[in-house]
Amino acid sequence: MIRGINDLEVSGKIVFVRCDLNVPLENGQITDDGRIRASLATLTNLSDRGARVVVLAHLGRPSGKPESKYSLAPAANRLSELLDSKVALATDVCGESARSVIANLTDGQIAMLENVRFDERETGDEAARKQLAKTWAELGDLYVSDGFGVVHRKQASVTDLAQELPHAAGLLVKAEADVFAKVLQNPDRPYAVVLGGSKVSDKLKVIDNLIANVDRLLIGGGMCFTFLAAKGHSVGSSLLETDQIDNVKDVLERAKSSNVEIVLPIDVIVADAFAPDANSKRVPADSIPDGWMGLDIGPESIELFEKKLVDAQTIIWNGPMGVFEMPAFAAGTKAVAIAMTRNTGMTVVGGGDSAAAIRLLGIDETKFSHISTGGGASLEFLEGKELPGLSVLEDN
Ligand code: 3PG
Repeated sequence: MIRGINDLEVSGKIVFVRCDLNVPLENGQITDDGRIRASLATLTNLSDRGARVVVLAHLGRPSGKPESKYSLAPAANRLSELLDSKVALATDVCGESARSVIANLTDGQIAMLENVRFDERETGDEAARKQLAKTWAELGDLYVSDGFGVVHRKQASVTDLAQELPHAAGLLVKAEADVFAKVLQNPDRPYAVVLGGSKVSDKLKVIDNLIANVDRLLIGGGMCFTFLAAKGHSVGSSLLETDQIDNVKDVLERAKSSNVEIVLPIDVIVADAFAPDANSKRVPADSIPDGWMGLDIGPESIELFEKKLVDAQTIIWNGPMGVFEMPAFAAGTKAVAIAMTRNTGMTVVGGGDSAAAIRLLGIDETKFSHISTGGGASLEFLEGKELPGLSVLEDN
């Protein structure tokens, strides 16, 4: 059993909340604050109930020591704006500043510690992680896990601190875990999964885990060219993982024997260079000319994909259909996103690039049943792996 935050007595208590505030930055400015917004529900719930909230989070992958470009200051500022209340940021992870920020909290206030990865013990071996977790545990009373994007990591602020303090799953982690459990265990049918992104090797384990259960598997993005090549088609200079062709042939065989419909693009938009202003044209997917690379699915494929999604009762989407960052190659990704917004079944966006695409393309986020905040975490969930940040929360 995993406890929720409403099972905890939090008033007047110092509650550590692990959030995933790992947001993209450009020149110090946050370009997508989705993860910060997704953490608000738990933080305001705890604050409204009189907790003294201490947010633990990471940004990027610093090398175990402070690096100003990875400071959580932009996230603390954005959080202050969204909460309409100043969120103090300690200048260290568990030193003088952290202690003083925690000691100065009053009931209902929220503060943050600096990037937990500025301390090498966060990502260290078990003994190191435990030591850091114990240092935090001495400063607080309770632990709430709300960083779904990190539950696949065995790190001090994710797994070890949960072992040191009474703990619960935050509202975001609970919502994400419930959605993924539902789509994996008991999906309404027809059940369609749309996979894209550049590499098929990144998605093979997901395919392996889903293939026995899904009805339709739609493949776009760079990874579709390895599928097209496995069917014997020429793919020009498109992305191709030659070492995966045999694995993909095996997927095609297994799909056939499990009655899973694999839907591949029937036309693609090809370009003569990987550039926004490259020359481009539409060609049939089974004969991409030499010297041209596929950068998006074509209009006939879009129509086909829409048809395969319209009556689906469950749709999971992970990975863009093309190079959506370049307007000339964004149509496929946009079409899949819009088809999902029109669907009345359960529509789940598996985080990472697809979630970023939705926001970049200005598609109404409220029209999806769920947009995951997890990139790697949602993929590992779909792969059927055990997520250490979730199992550690289990209590008997
Ligand atoms: C993510 O961006 O997927 C999470 O914040 C995890 O980050 P990490 O891959 O650096 O652990």
